[in-house]
Amino acid sequence: MTRKYFCAGNWKMNTLKKNVEEILTNLKNNVDGENADIVVAPPAAYLQMVQSQKPSYVQLAAQNCFKKSTGAFTGEISPTMLLDFGTKWVILGHSERRHVFGETDELISEKVSHALKEGLHVIACIGETKEQRQSNQTAKVVQEQLKSIASGVTDWTKVVIAYEPVWAIGTGIVATPDQAQEAHKLIRSWIADNVSSNVADHVRVVYGGSVNAANCKALSKLNDVDGFLVGGASLTAEFATICNATK
Ligand code: PGA
Repeated sequence: MTRKYFCAGNWKMNTLKKNVEEILTNLKNNVDGENADIVVAPPAAYLQMVQSQKPSYVQLAAQNCFKKSTGAFTGEISPTMLLDFGTKWVILGHSERRHVFGETDELISEKVSHALKEGLHVIACIGETKEQRQSNQTAKVVQEQLKSIASGVTDWTKVVIAYEPVWAIGTGIVATPDQAQEAHKLIRSWIADNVSSNVADHVRVVYGGSVNAANCKALSKLNDVDGFLVGGASLTAEFATICNATK
């Protein structure tokens, strides 16, 4: 089964206008987007700027959205608004949303469900903390998070699962190929057992956590790793190398 390579850059709460221009110029000059889904997730304030300046092959993602379409929810953005100006994807369940902003599995599942219902594609993130890995809870935690997300999924063709071990995010400590393959296989097996083998064959499971130009090639060759969700390195010229990892 060949799944299309997926490479998304999560800019988090970084970038100003000048950085947006630099990042897009790097993509224009060094990536052609052939045989790959290339996605960028700028801060909400820059979504429209990116939409108007990005190369056509680059797909736009938001870093978050709310579980309602409209109403009295100060500070929130709805899927309907994101779609209104051409956003295709939304990242949901990122560990920073879970751990810094206290988002629960239940809220994330509701957001996934609503985003899909409105027509967005979803990058749904799961992953264990360092303490959970050290106490052999990785499989349990990942399966529980996945189960909760799956309960909100109505269309698996619009979902990418991002396995992002919390201990690898922004730390410079990348999962070893064995650790990544083991977790990705576990995720795919859970989907085969609890959703369907067809969905398990087709759904893309991408890795995130300290991915860079030096480690992306080896990780991209793993059977169950279908691409990356990249944080820090997506703000630099290295992102082009990661987008081209399978070439
Ligand atoms: P990182 O972040 O690449 O900076 O580790 C990954 C992420 O949070 O998606």
